[in-house]
Amino acid sequence: MANNNALNREREAYTKKHAKSKTMQAEAAKYLPGGSSRGTAYFDPYPFFVDHAEGHYVYDVDGNRYLDFMINATTYIVGHANPKVVKAVTDQAPKGLSYSAPTDVQVRLAKLLVERVPSVEKIRFTNSGTEGTMNAIRMARAFTGKPKYAKFEGGYHGNSEEVSISVSPPLSKLDPNGYNPVPEWPGQPPGVTNDVVIMPYNNLEACEDILRRHQHEVGCVIMEAVLSNIGYVPGKPEFLQGMRDLTKELGMVLIFDEVQTLRLAPGGAQEMFGVIPDVTCFGKIIGGGLPVGAWGGRDDLMALYDNQKGATISHPGTFNANPMTMAAGEATMTQLTPPVYKRLNALGDSLRAKLRATFDELDVPAQVTGVGSLFGIHFNEHEITDYRSYLKGDKAKLNAFYVGMMNEGILMFAKGIGALNINTTEKEIDQFVTAARKVVQRIR
Ligand SMILES: Cc1ncc(COP(=O)(O)O)c(C=O)c1O
Repeated sequence: MANNNALNREREAYTKKHAKSKTMQAEAAKYLPGGSSRGTAYFDPYPFFVDHAEGHYVYDVDGNRYLDFMINATTYIVGHANPKVVKAVTDQAPKGLSYSAPTDVQVRLAKLLVERVPSVEKIRFTNSGTEGTMNAIRMARAFTGKPKYAKFEGGYHGNSEEVSISVSPPLSKLDPNGYNPVPEWPGQPPGVTNDVVIMPYNNLEACEDILRRHQHEVGCVIMEAVLSNIGYVPGKPEFLQGMRDLTKELGMVLIFDEVQTLRLAPGGAQEMFGVIPDVTCFGKIIGGGLPVGAWGGRDDLMALYDNQKGATISHPGTFNANPMTMAAGEATMTQLTPPVYKRLNALGDSLRAKLRATFDELDVPAQVTGVGSLFGIHFNEHEITDYRSYLKGDKAKLNAFYVGMMNEGILMFAKGIGALNINTTEKEIDQFVTAARKVVQRIR
């Protein structure tokens, strides 16, 4: 267990390097609860304020530079301020930022995604991953006529009320004999908890038992092929295929949330694992760094939104498919050719191997998780396969590691996870591993 001294020492070192950010945080907290509009932007003692970002780097107002593996929650797969993306956005801006009519660039991005992602015959854009998953579940309910949906314990699918159940429940609220839905905050209506069924990841037998019992009320299962929220833990091949077969047999729509995992292959995790869902949700990389979300799937499902035939479900949205986002998305996605994915994934393998070797050499009990260009570090003696095994990690040590890595000029998610981008080479991988070695030696 990292003692609090280690964490305090790292925080002190951080505070010394971030005097201006401290003043700015105090000012911000007068007008914004906690000083910001984004839950994940805050960490103790206070976050640094950004001045600018370029390529692999973020620069803060205090003059510190970070080699960025956070890249806005995996979004900047082509790096910050990528020249082609900047050009696409600056070409579009003078022509108007958004209109209440369709544009060709929307069609081009839709075509690219339909051609690449095996499950998608039609796609619809919106402004966040949250809206994408919300609509996918709504569509599945309308299609099947079944009111409930199933999700995995520890799965994050955005910030809407209905998916904010059992995302990060504390151990004390988990039923040791089952998988109870745990509200994320007070005041969530009973309808929300009653309409969701919770399952354990990577445990096909338990999922089968749960889904068969709820067969007549559950219309869909939403899941990731790699569970991001617990450090990019992949579904085992027989588990993923089993979920595909089971949902098909039970008349449930299988939704893959590929908001993060689309970066694993041109066709996302579904292509990588060879398991094709009915519906796919998108976000992050497909908008090139501007607000975006989307969902797509089989024609007969997506037809519920077809205005030419009198849409069953209406989907308005002032900024849906705005040309700024579509242009940035197109400029990003067209840079992602098959060799680019291959290279990124090989670098991810290299990072994981080097981290594992370092932790072994230093005799630090740690797990290195992840797939392709997504990685996770856990101070956990146990193999991580689901949310409950993930919870066994040493949180205090992870906090100290996170702040320590920032003190070494490396940025990642506070959860000890991160992602690579096209500017990453073995040099940046080595910088990361060298910093990790220094920090674990300091905090052990
Ligand atoms: C797997 C997954 N689904 C959905 C979302 C929600 O996307 P957004 O933040 O754009 O609403 C996220 C965001 O991190 C995510 O990681």
